Amino acid sequence: MSNKKKPWGGRFDSRRNAAFDRMNASIVFDWRLAAYDLWQNRIYADELTRIGVLSKSERKLLTGALATVASEIQGGHFAYKLSLEDVHMNIEARLTELAGDAGKRIHTGRSRNDQVATDFRLWLRDGIDVLSSRLRDLIETTLTRAEQWAGLAIPGYTHLQRAQVVTFGHHIHAYAEMLLRDLQRLADVRARLNFCPLGSGALASSPYPIDRARLAKAMGFAEATRNSMDAVSDRDFAFEFLAATSLLGLHLSRWAEDITLWMSSEFRWVKLPDAFCTGSSIMPQKKNPDLAELARGKSGRLLGHVVALGTVLKGLPLTYNKDLQEDKEPVFDAYATAYDLVDTWQQMVAEMQVNANHMAAGFKGGHLLATDLADFLVREKDVPFREAHHIVGTAVALAEKLGCDVSDLSLKQLKEIDGRLDKAAKLALRIETSLNSRARFGGPAPAQVAKNIAATRAALSAVPAHDPVFSWAFDLPLPSFLP
Ligand code: ARG
Repeated sequence: MSNKKKPWGGRFDSRRNAAFDRMNASIVFDWRLAAYDLWQNRIYADELTRIGVLSKSERKLLTGALATVASEIQGGHFAYKLSLEDVHMNIEARLTELAGDAGKRIHTGRSRNDQVATDFRLWLRDGIDVLSSRLRDLIETTLTRAEQWAGLAIPGYTHLQRAQVVTFGHHIHAYAEMLLRDLQRLADVRARLNFCPLGSGALASSPYPIDRARLAKAMGFAEATRNSMDAVSDRDFAFEFLAATSLLGLHLSRWAEDITLWMSSEFRWVKLPDAFCTGSSIMPQKKNPDLAELARGKSGRLLGHVVALGTVLKGLPLTYNKDLQEDKEPVFDAYATAYDLVDTWQQMVAEMQVNANHMAAGFKGGHLLATDLADFLVREKDVPFREAHHIVGTAVALAEKLGCDVSDLSLKQLKEIDGRLDKAAKLALRIETSLNSRARFGGPAPAQVAKNIAATRAALSAVPAHDPVFSWAFDLPLPSFLP
């Protein structure tokens, strides 16, 4: 297409550069905004009609044309053109084909700068709602599993060394807490992005008497944005979304690391469903935890998107600059990556099986009850903690020398170390005693874990849930782009 024919072509000569045109065209990715661009056009046409820029019959033509374009896009036969650069000009050109002059009037008082800022916020608001609802499922599944495993004792680790007794349910509940914070963060991003830029124009707002509050309300925004220059150049919402999804990715990546350890022959704590594992092309015995490894890898990609957009935004003068067109691909990719991760992870967690025998094997030789023995001396014998620590340290050294666990030492051996280590001390060296003693809020005693989980459930139900406006916008057929 020659420059002369472009929607902005009035002042240009007809020379083009093919490589530049390819770089400049955002339609190859921003077609995803189509549903929201159509919605915005419908609402804007209503407003232009109200202020007399469009006649009622022109509005009718436009409404019909918008419906036609919607069905072309949903049916996968809309003819996107690279030469029309982006989704906004593609849709406007088609509206003009279908509705003539009415199509030529739809851009009155509007710029692609406030248009894209509006579309992008609408898309992301729905994206957050779709992702959040699946994340909520994952959190619920995680809590259900944590509840099932609330009484299952495991060695807990620090420095990847056996440390103290906890329960598997308590460990899994820790991940539910992280994911709940991710859900809350997404809700925060949503609340901060829910302001309407439309009517900000290129940067200096609109000379037409449009009612911005009415436009905002019609598209479900809380309010209109308060500064036209900020509105066209602000991408904080995109950055915040990337930060929120990268932290979500990071949490799944940490869980992934736990899962790969648990699945190793060294641990053998869990069995993962075959659907989320693969085999080796050479070693017939292999079953690899690929979903977990992919989650660990993809967290790098999600974090990379934060850095990419931050670098684009840093140092941009006000207001709109074409650099901002680079905002969309990281966000689209972060959404798709996070959604797939959450979706598959939920199913994997729902079907994960545990091997209690192998978990219990970890209690042998790790001296996990050493701290409990020191606490016994403090509580029952009034020994100062630092002194108790030394006494038990001596007992651990003896156990190490004998090649057994500190809990395997006989009453006689304990008494020789310190006379206060009596029969009751042996009782302190039991897993159930240790677990049941940790019954503070947030602690791993089985009865306490159930209460901790109930508190998480209450916090979860306090996070507002919303239905997306256009769930079909996330299942659109991929357009094919022929030059
Ligand atoms: N495709 C553009 C983007 O994504 C739309 C805005 C273009 N604005 C402009 N003044 N050229 O940012």
